[in-house]
Amino acid sequence: MSITVTPLTTEFVAEISGIDLAQPLPAADRDAIQAAIDRYAILVFHDQKLTDDQQIAFSRQFGPIHASAQRARHTGIKHRLASNEIADISNLDGDSKVLAPDAKRRLDWLANRLWHTDASFRAVPGALSLLYAHVVPDDDGDGGGDTEFADLRAAYDALPDKTKREIDGLVAEHSIWHSRGQLAVTKYTPEELASLPPVPQRIVRRHPGSGRKTLYLASHASHVLGMPIADGRLLLLDLIEHATQRPFVHRHCWRQGDLVIWDNRCTMHRARPFDTTKVRDLRRVTTRDAASTLEQAA
Ligand code: OGA
Ligand code: MN
Repeated sequence: MSITVTPLTTEFVAEISGIDLAQPLPAADRDAIQAAIDRYAILVFHDQKLTDDQQIAFSRQFGPIHASAQRARHTGIKHRLASNEIADISNLDGDSKVLAPDAKRRLDWLANRLWHTDASFRAVPGALSLLYAHVVPDDDGDGGGDTEFADLRAAYDALPDKTKREIDGLVAEHSIWHSRGQLAVTKYTPEELASLPPVPQRIVRRHPGSGRKTLYLASHASHVLGMPIADGRLLLLDLIEHATQRPFVHRHCWRQGDLVIWDNRCTMHRARPFDTTKVRDLRRVTTRDAASTLEQAA
């Protein structure tokens, strides 16, 4: 059986059916998924049953895996998942208990509620993220922990020409400590802080899969090189506000067994609220981009 690609929006989100991701991936299906990623940026697969190893093996078909930085910034605690090729996006501790309200890892994880793209704070940033839902909380009126995605290619296209000229060639500094600092989460050791130093990334880049220009933004971005901090920060805030207007945003309501792939090079995402005393167990594999955005054609 071959796969079916059903667009949910013309150029941003598609659902893929007719495939069991736990099985070895036929080359034709791999290529069809890659083509769909390049076109749509967000792909949704329902009703999958994956172990961590199967999720990692599937992800590896789309690029080298970016080892998670979670262990580097949470030293001295027990981690729940065995491999650093998979990031723990749950609200569970190393013993699979719901994290205490003031647990450092919970506070760090809450920064996923800020608009961001994965691993833009690493010199070689993330390319694709593949997030799989093991346990999803019920939506009993206060939200079920949905995820929102913003289309940064469409947002770039919609900018006034004057803004496009102004931001062409600009470089922002990204640091994971900047996004955490916005939530006043600062309890990191000197070694943890030193493990993830700030890195420069272009604000406008060319998305390799489609050849389209795109914004590249995240709450990790603190300022623009060569500009007073305040001006650069205001510019970044304005661009994020522009890019997250409703017409550019898609909301995914999770079901257990969903796997969602997104392309970090041309999207942002954020988690939405839910009752964090309930279990939400999602796990993510991210692939590595080819190089820093500074080394890629803009
Ligand atoms: C992530 C992330 C959002 C969510 O996995 O990178 O930001 O809704 N997740 O859990
Ligand atoms: Mn993320």
